Amino acid sequence: MAGLKPINFGIIGLGAGTMNMLPELSANPNAKIVAAADTRKDALDRFTKDFAGQAYSNPEDLCKDPNVEVVYVMTPDEYHAEHTILAAEHGKQVILDKPMGLTLDQCDAIIESTERNGTRVLVGHSQSLDLVNLKIAEIANSGELGNVTMIHTMFYSDWIYRPRAREELVQERGGSIVRRQGPIQVDIVRMIGGGLVKSVRANTNCVDPQRPIDGSFNAFLDFENGSSATVIYDGYGHFNSAELTYGYTLQGFQMDPELHVNSRKKIEGFGSLEEEELFKDSTRYGGSLNRSINQRVSEERRHAFFGFTIVSCEKGDIRQTPTGLIIYGDYGNTEVPIPAGAGYNRRYCAIEVDEMCRALRESTPVRIHDANWGKATQEVVLGIIASSEQRKEIFMEHQVAYNGQGVS
Ligand SMILES: NC(=O)c1ccc[n+]([C@@H]2O[C@H](COP(=O)([O-])OP(=O)(O)OC[C@H]3O[C@@H](n4cnc5c(N)ncnc54)[C@H](O)[C@@H]3O)[C@@H](O)[C@H]2O)c1
Repeated sequence: MAGLKPINFGIIGLGAGTMNMLPELSANPNAKIVAAADTRKDALDRFTKDFAGQAYSNPEDLCKDPNVEVVYVMTPDEYHAEHTILAAEHGKQVILDKPMGLTLDQCDAIIESTERNGTRVLVGHSQSLDLVNLKIAEIANSGELGNVTMIHTMFYSDWIYRPRAREELVQERGGSIVRRQGPIQVDIVRMIGGGLVKSVRANTNCVDPQRPIDGSFNAFLDFENGSSATVIYDGYGHFNSAELTYGYTLQGFQMDPELHVNSRKKIEGFGSLEEEELFKDSTRYGGSLNRSINQRVSEERRHAFFGFTIVSCEKGDIRQTPTGLIIYGDYGNTEVPIPAGAGYNRRYCAIEVDEMCRALRESTPVRIHDANWGKATQEVVLGIIASSEQRKEIFMEHQVAYNGQGVS
């Protein structure tokens, strides 16, 4: 797509997540950031300086801006549906950060609005769309190793001890590791397993009363095609699953052995929730830490690991490496390199942005993580919560097949 005119993007929500995503989005030749909306003046002031774009103090004005073609929704989870629908009602395409909505009713409202307005929704930013995960899904769905029999994915991190805003520590407002991180793991296993989950059995755990949200879960997904997946996330900052992934982390760098202890100490060091919120505010776009948006390329970076994933097929097993993946076959191993230039630096929304731009230019739907896919993933996420509460198997009704073959 080199040489094509960039597509104009507007961002709603200039918070900590956007701060992580901006280095990638601002360097993407397919995208031009032309507008942003936030309620924080500091964020809007910085945006005007960094991008010379239009800064809006409310999302509706951004959605009315005729210059904006794609709206990137990065507000807190409880606003995802509201802001996506607002954009669709103004005829805009949307890349929406996961989760798609807090409830299936919210997902349905998004689908209704986008279908009526003839607009697209792509539910990202999901590390399931990192190049290695796309390649694993491609091999698994191609049948070249026979049927998929089992998928295991597990992540052990310090997630619960990262600085939070008040609403993130309230289960019903979108807090909980299941709602925030679950969509990524569910996307990964649904992509590899073909998409159609039949039922879910799970347990979730809340073990730290100071952080009154679920911080770990254990789920078993049964697929319509007979394969199954175990999905585990433990965010309590004890074991670090980078030990299982060649020492490489979610950022694609070597792990810091002290990270988990330091995360816990940092949270304990805040005297109050207000102090913790102030710290989180400093990390946001426009916050006092003044983080740079030019930190993309690094020689040390390798492919990012969203924990450890291994896929068993009839004729071989697949796992990720720092530079691609390995197939453990019947008579030996085959390494499949995924090149650095196109890989290590294409993280945080690169695939989502490229796919949305392609769909717009070619006047087609998005091929991956569209609104129906996002709803199906959210159904599984909510199924994990319901299964734990009711201590029983929950059956799925809104699943859709994986159709992302060829996206990379
Ligand atoms: N923190 C991360 O590293 C990270 C990474 C990836 C994705 N995400 C996702 O990004 C989303 C936001 O999380 P976050 O950590 O960046 O939160 P945050 O609180 O740091 O950022 C949210 C931003 O939205 C703004 N905002 C809130 N309500 C608004 C409204 N009504 N209109 C306009 N702006 C409004 C806030 O001022 C803030 O700048 C979540 O869905 C989260 O799952 C976060």
